[in-house]
Amino acid sequence: MPATRTGAAGAVISGWGMALPDKVVTNHDLAETLDTSDEWIVTRTGISSRHIGGSTVSLSVASGQQALDMAGLTPERIDALVVATTTPDRQWGTAAMIQEQLGLSCGAYEVNAACSGFVYALVNAHGLIAMGANRVLIIGTDTLSRITDWNDRATAPLFADASGAVVLESVEGRGQLLGWDLDADGSASELLWAEVGGTVNMEGKEVFRRAVRIMMDSAEKSMRHAGITADDLALIVPHQANIRIIQAACDRLGVEIERAAVTIDHTGNTSSASIPVALAEALNAGRVADGDHILLVGFGGGMTAASAVLRWGGTS
Ligand code: UT7
Repeated sequence: MPATRTGAAGAVISGWGMALPDKVVTNHDLAETLDTSDEWIVTRTGISSRHIGGSTVSLSVASGQQALDMAGLTPERIDALVVATTTPDRQWGTAAMIQEQLGLSCGAYEVNAACSGFVYALVNAHGLIAMGANRVLIIGTDTLSRITDWNDRATAPLFADASGAVVLESVEGRGQLLGWDLDADGSASELLWAEVGGTVNMEGKEVFRRAVRIMMDSAEKSMRHAGITADDLALIVPHQANIRIIQAACDRLGVEIERAAVTIDHTGNTSSASIPVALAEALNAGRVADGDHILLVGFGGGMTAASAVLRWGGTS
C-alpha cells in the first residue's frame, strides 16, 4: 500500500474475469436423488443447471488472473486484494493464499457479507483508492456446494459455486462510482444462516418476501446519491437468487427485465460471485457502452443488502 495519497480519488474498472467449475449439475441430475423435478425448480427459481466444484482459492485465482490480464497488469502493480466470500477455504488466510498464487505482493483480506459481499468489497476498495491505493483487485467467490445439505430439497437446488473479479484503478476525477449504499438488518439473521462448519438454513418464503424490499430500498438510496432514476439505467446487475425476485425487483423499478443481467438459469445462486459473474457476462456480451449507468444490487444472509451505481467509462 502506498504511504501517501496520489491525489486521485476516483476509480474505474479496468479488467474483469469469471470462473465456473467444469462440472455441470442439471435439475434432472438432482431429481435422481431428491424428491424434486426440473419443472418445479425452473418454475419456482429460474434455475436449470449449476456448476459445482473447485475451491474458493482455485476459482479466485482463475477469475483474478483473467482480470489482471485484461487490465494488462503484472502482479506487483496491485496494491491490495479484497476477497468477498462467505465460504473461505480456511477460517482465515484464504485471501492470503490467493495473493500468493497470483504472485501479488500486497495486503490481502476477506470481506464476508454473504450474497451482498461483492458490493461491500467494491465500496471498500473505493475507500482504499480514496486513501491512496492505485490498483485494487476485488474477487467475489463462493463454493456454496460445500455448505449445502444435498439431502434438503428446499436448499440443494439453489446454491452453487463460482468466482468473479474486477480490477479497480485510480483515476483523476470522480471515476465510475456515482452512488452506493451498504445495509444490514440483524433482526432478520435467523432467516438465512449457517453455523461455522454447518450447512445453510433458510426460511425461503420469508427471505423471498423481504428480499425485494431490502434490495429496492438500497437501490433507491444509491440512485438518489447518484442523482439518477431507474429510467437512466442501461443495465441492472442483481444478485442471482431467484428469477422471480429479479422480476419483482425490475417491476418495482419500473423497468423491463431485459435490462437486467441474468445468469441464474445456468449458475444458480453463487452468493458473493453472483454479481461479478453477471457483470462479467454482460460486459463480455458487449451490453455496456461508455456513459451507461449500471446498478449493482444484492441482498443476502444477515440480512444484508448493498448497491452501487456506476457510470461506465467515466474518467471525468
Ligand atoms: O441469496 C439469498 C438466498 N435465498 C433466497 O433468496 C431464497 C428466497 N426464496 C425463494 O427463492 C423461494 O422461497 C424458494 C425457491 C426457496 C421456494 O419457493 P416457494 O415458491 O416459496 O415455495 P414454497 O417454499 O412455498 O414451497 C411450495 C411447495 C411446498 O409443498 P406444499 O407444502 O405446498 O405441499 C414445498 O414442500 O413446494 C415444495 N417444495 C418442493 N417441491 C419440489 C419445496 N422445495 C421443493 C423442491 N421440489 N425442490
